[in-house]
Amino acid sequence: MRTTVGIIGAGPAGLLLARLLHNAGIESVVLESRDREYVEHRQRAGILEQGTVDVLRAAGAGARMDREGLRHDGIELRFDRKRHRVDFPALTGGRSVMVYAQTEVCKDLIALQLAEGGPLLFEAEALAVEGADSGSPRVRFRYQGREDVLECDYVVGCDGFWGVARAAVPAELTRVFERAYPFGWLGILADVPPSHDELVYARHDRGFALLSMRSPSVSRLYLQVPEGTDAEDWSDEEIWDELERRFETTDGWRLDRGTITQKSVTPMRSWVHEPMRYGRLFLAGDAAHIVPPTGAKGLNLAVGDVVTFARALTYEKETGSAELLDAYSETCLRRVWQAERFSYDMTTLLHRTPDATPFEDRLQVARLDRIAGARSAETDLAEGYTGFPLE
Ligand code: APR
Ligand code: PHB
Repeated sequence: MRTTVGIIGAGPAGLLLARLLHNAGIESVVLESRDREYVEHRQRAGILEQGTVDVLRAAGAGARMDREGLRHDGIELRFDRKRHRVDFPALTGGRSVMVYAQTEVCKDLIALQLAEGGPLLFEAEALAVEGADSGSPRVRFRYQGREDVLECDYVVGCDGFWGVARAAVPAELTRVFERAYPFGWLGILADVPPSHDELVYARHDRGFALLSMRSPSVSRLYLQVPEGTDAEDWSDEEIWDELERRFETTDGWRLDRGTITQKSVTPMRSWVHEPMRYGRLFLAGDAAHIVPPTGAKGLNLAVGDVVTFARALTYEKETGSAELLDAYSETCLRRVWQAERFSYDMTTLLHRTPDATPFEDRLQVARLDRIAGARSAETDLAEGYTGFPLE
């Protein structure tokens, strides 16, 4: 097989990249190791920044998002049983976010790719990227029981944290930056209308809790749990009881319960792989960086990377200049590190580590009081949450 851009991975990064390249008249092939059902139902993020919403609309992939997505103009911070709403448009000159699950974004992009785009091969496992520093890189992959080779002009590794693409970057050129956290998130889906019309981020001495949603009738909630927690260690009643404790307020706000239809534990890490490019191999999304989900940046960072690559390759096709391709890694990493900073700040602001000292407890509440009481601090959070502009 041969194509212009070989894309490894059909998560949001790979699928959106294929769509952007298709719209630019650039052919690609997407190799995805899992089956369609798995990719379309893998529970992940649910918040789209304004920039992501704009990109999906411009790519012709925003119709169902505009019908079914929920525009949110703020979030609530909850601490010491107090509630503080952060008003995004007022603080950012009109920006908001869209609640629309990553699963739905993937379904929309898969449908478009299968209907209009180039080959999207499910259950096609990339084994290795070879010749990344040559003029004709290739992807060795296994599909339908046979090994095959995809000859490309460029390869983009959109294969996530566990992918194979970045192994093609020589170790001596690679720098990895990471931080693990001593906690994770126990996440549930529940068939009950959300108990609040916007997301609620709660800081509590017992640990963090988040109220989110997937639709007017489906709630998505998270509990901070110790690292290594098994979701099956928690009964449904224990989960609701703990959520109730952590969302408690002085004004009697009530958390409605319902049938839990899914529960799983997500580990928490910050991680960046530099560089994001080696020869004709480019890395995008979770293949190059991971953020704690607190700031809802993961999907949106992946979008920024692939928009940057598609623009750079289009520029090269139109002008013959590789200037933007050569700047890809630095361009993406400026935005990645700002998202890493924001996600780290929100995570340390709201989560209580098991060994937290009374001083650290007071410091967290002081940071939250500052955000609730000072427009400058509140604006920094609102700007980070609604998204860092694409260069
Ligand atoms: N060959 C082919 N496909 C692969 C391989 C491989 N060797 N390894 C991994 N994949 C596929 C995975 O099955 C997955 O579908 O690559 C895809 C990577 O998708 P994501 O992990 O979703 O990463 P990305 O597209 O960068 O999106 C980032 O996803 O994990 C969330 O929180 C993250 O919201 C963020 C978003
Ligand atoms: C989600 O709805 O899954 C979600 C929302 C906000 C976050 C993280 C996850 O910060």
